[in-house]
Amino acid sequence: MSRQELDFVRDMFDRIAPHYDFLNRLLSLRQDVYWRAKLVSSLELASGARVLDTACGTGDVGIEIRRQFGGQTGVFGIDFAPEMLRLAQPKLKNMADGPPICLAAADAFDLPFKSGQFDAITMAFGIRNIQDKETVLKCFWDQLKPGGRLAILELGTPAKGLARQVYLFYFNKLLPFVGRFFSRHSFAYSYLPNSVARFPAAPEFAAMMRRAGFTRVRYLPLTKGITVLFVGDKP
Ligand SMILES: C[S@@+](CC[C@H](N)C(=O)[O-])C[C@H]1O[C@@H](n2cnc3c(N)ncnc32)[C@H](O)[C@@H]1O
Repeated sequence: MSRQELDFVRDMFDRIAPHYDFLNRLLSLRQDVYWRAKLVSSLELASGARVLDTACGTGDVGIEIRRQFGGQTGVFGIDFAPEMLRLAQPKLKNMADGPPICLAAADAFDLPFKSGQFDAITMAFGIRNIQDKETVLKCFWDQLKPGGRLAILELGTPAKGLARQVYLFYFNKLLPFVGRFFSRHSFAYSYLPNSVARFPAAPEFAAMMRRAGFTRVRYLPLTKGITVLFVGDKP
């Protein structure tokens, strides 16, 4: 992905950051909370595990990790949009349990950690923004300990029937309008359906994970396939 494309995505998230959490809950009818809970429970972490949440945005995955696995879990979050990280800080600071969740401004392609540091890596709703998915998957593989797990959430589209028709109308017509109204951003919520349409079908993305070295790759459609959870392990 060119520097120009990365800058475009980063600037877009910086600009929508103040409305990001509110619009997530509204536009997904709070399903996003359930989707992140499924992502985190798929990690099956042992006590004292270290987890890296990439494209952490405003920190909701990190908060869910601590909620499910407690304060002894080491959680690190990286994102390349400074405004998203700025809004994550007060949310993460107010957590009662455990040491602070560490945040860093970093690109998923250039992670500021030594190889083999993490028991698990997560990415929620970030991978569709990344064109060179295979390279970033290889970076994640490198950062995991042997036996570590990668879990990725991404938006999809219901496969067939009425659910698909209704969803496509909502996602392509209504959502950009509501998103534009609240965020005051002219194209971020039109970019969203376009970026989801470009995302590969689940079997194809699972094959990319396998090519990056992951084994036991599986995927689980959530809410009729509106979101898909991908999980793979580093042998
Ligand atoms: C849709 S938001 C998801 C935020 C969070 N994971 C969540 O569940 O709400 C996508 C995030 O990915 C980040 N992002 C996209 N490409 C990235 C990259 N190459 N490196 C780091 N962060 C990236 C954006 O800045 C944005 O915060």
